Amino acid sequence: LGQSSESGRLLRAVVLCALKVERLAMRAHLTDLQKEPQQPGFRFDIGRVKGGTSEIVLVEAGRGNVRAGAVTQQVISLFHPDILLCVGVAGALHDDLALADVVVATQVYAYQGGTATKEFLARPQAWPASHELEQLARSVDDSHDWWPAVGDQGREHRPRIHFRPIAAGDVVLDGHDSAMFEQLRLHYNDAAAIDMEDAGIAQVAHLNNVPALAIRGLSDHADGRKTDSDQAGWQQRAATAAATFAAALLARLDPAGRAAGISLTATVRSEERGTPDAANRQPRVPQLAYIREKTSGFVGRDSVFADLTTFLSTRPSGHIVVEGMPGMGKTSLLAEEVRRRNWPAHFNIAAQGITSALAFMRSLHGQLAERYQIQLASPGAGDEDDGQYIGSLLEETADRLSPNEQLVIVVDALDEASMTQTGANTLFLPTVLPAGLYLLVSRRRRTAELQIDGARLVIDLTDRQAEGRKDMERFIRESLARPAIEARLSGVTDQDRVVADLLDRSELNFMYLVYVLRDIEAGRMPPDDVFGLPQGLSGYYERHLAKMLSKGTSAIASLRTIYALAAIREPVPASLLASAVRVTELTVTTLLLDWEQFLLKDSGEGKTTYSLYHQSFRDFLMAVETVRAAGIDMGELNSAVGQGFIDRLGLDLEDEDEDEE
Ligand SMILES: Nc1ncnc2c1ncn2[C@@H]1O[C@H](COP(=O)(O)OP(=O)(O)O)[C@@H](O)[C@H]1O
Ligand SMILES: [Mg+2]
Repeated sequence: LGQSSESGRLLRAVVLCALKVERLAMRAHLTDLQKEPQQPGFRFDIGRVKGGTSEIVLVEAGRGNVRAGAVTQQVISLFHPDILLCVGVAGALHDDLALADVVVATQVYAYQGGTATKEFLARPQAWPASHELEQLARSVDDSHDWWPAVGDQGREHRPRIHFRPIAAGDVVLDGHDSAMFEQLRLHYNDAAAIDMEDAGIAQVAHLNNVPALAIRGLSDHADGRKTDSDQAGWQQRAATAAATFAAALLARLDPAGRAAGISLTATVRSEERGTPDAANRQPRVPQLAYIREKTSGFVGRDSVFADLTTFLSTRPSGHIVVEGMPGMGKTSLLAEEVRRRNWPAHFNIAAQGITSALAFMRSLHGQLAERYQIQLASPGAGDEDDGQYIGSLLEETADRLSPNEQLVIVVDALDEASMTQTGANTLFLPTVLPAGLYLLVSRRRRTAELQIDGARLVIDLTDRQAEGRKDMERFIRESLARPAIEARLSGVTDQDRVVADLLDRSELNFMYLVYVLRDIEAGRMPPDDVFGLPQGLSGYYERHLAKMLSKGTSAIASLRTIYALAAIREPVPASLLASAVRVTELTVTTLLLDWEQFLLKDSGEGKTTYSLYHQSFRDFLMAVETVRAAGIDMGELNSAVGQGFIDRLGLDLEDEDEDEE
């Protein structure tokens, strides 16, 4: 029970209700109910919503945040849900809300957090709704067909859905002249509704990394007439409204629900959880290790996600182009979208030798063939010479989309792909897309050829400074709270100054932050140095090179090693670098410690390989001035690297060369 279903993995949703009336309203939407032994402490049912295939675990958790939180933790441990919904009734806090309307919480406030001195000083805690679930809820709302057209319910008006914050505390609020109401008005002015469980549930969901959403029907106005409204049947109607909306949302969770343009998938997470049948149902996106690396610790970019969603819902097809300077976070942003939505994706990675049009076409064909039973054969020789193949592949895919289905194809780092013909788009990407298809691509600012003739949305991260700053501040604060970093900086009292300095010096570049934080964590940067940081990413690189050069002749082998790695452009084992630089393998691993923060170490399949973590570092190394400053003779180094390859293959080509001459 609870681990995985026998016939391939289905999405599993837990629905938490506080009251019996809420549970019964939800239960009315379930079918195929299984008989399960009741757990001590809470009642639950397992079934699915009519018209859906996801497995639904419906739980009556009881009243209050603490209790709801404790039950949520138990339920998560027992069932490992992919998502969590909190469905029930709430009191309305504003007069523009009608009873039996539904509030979908864009965030949940734990409104009682604060200090009560002479006056109440709010210390709010808030949890944002899961982005995917909120988007899914919005698309359900947009469709208007979630409310039945016939029957008793059909005769009632379809309730309005409000996307606004909800405040949760442990008080039954029933009166507008209470001090509590005044506090809410003052400090949580945008909260539309109030209940007693959402904070506990949101907190536990957050701790367990489970996407969650609260959906609450309004049963009273928290104005002293609660008992009257309850008696007038509003509680029942509110519970029904929330349950009906929740059921419509759950029905769309399924693979078939992709028609809504949003597929909430559990591929990455369930794979981490190790359920062997997990990968079978959801199409796999290759380059999963890279996606994971790029999205670990991901924060923010809310406005970008929102703009993208708007574009998808208003344009029948089109290009979305993410631009920005190296290290600003384009790849991470695209990777995060892929992680969340499981869109087909190809990441160009020059440092790993993934640059060719053919590699792109093969990968895309593989992914689309798996999803859409594409007949077109895999690309072969010649197909990478023009745009014909990619055009046919996309046409056939578009033909196979169901009505209203949208598919976004993600292609990262156009500037890292190899040059195609002049006049053609990079990787022969089309200039217009058939209906239902979208391309989400990224490139450095104004590099890489990309002619677009249809609808487009250009997202330049450089233009979103305010949000970038906010996101990066959050990233820094979360990083500084990591035990390893906290311990290193325990002597630094002015944490706010560290945050401010890092932000200012970073030039709003995530890569810069990652390097500096890695330095602090590894003890490479003494605490005092956090107040003398280099300026910007290039400043960081320059300072590191200067530090290496100051070691004099002992740095020569170290520099040659990193240059050899940059020249090779694919993940290589230390032994290969050793033969290129003509030192022992052990020496190479020691020398690479000088460059640790710039490396991506991959220890898959029993052997360790190294590549450069970020393209901007390779660009820095290869710039003419750097090569000169480092005293590297690139011609000589390249032939040493070539000779290293040859030595490793055990070939001796010199004789042959001589014969030919
Ligand atoms: N939104 C983000 N949240 C957390 N870390 C990020 C974010 N964006 C970027 N990073 C970090 O910064 C590094 C560089 O970003 P990347 O996406 O590779 O930049 P770009 O593709 O624009 O050159 C990433 O590897 C990641 O560690
Ligand atoms: Mg990138």
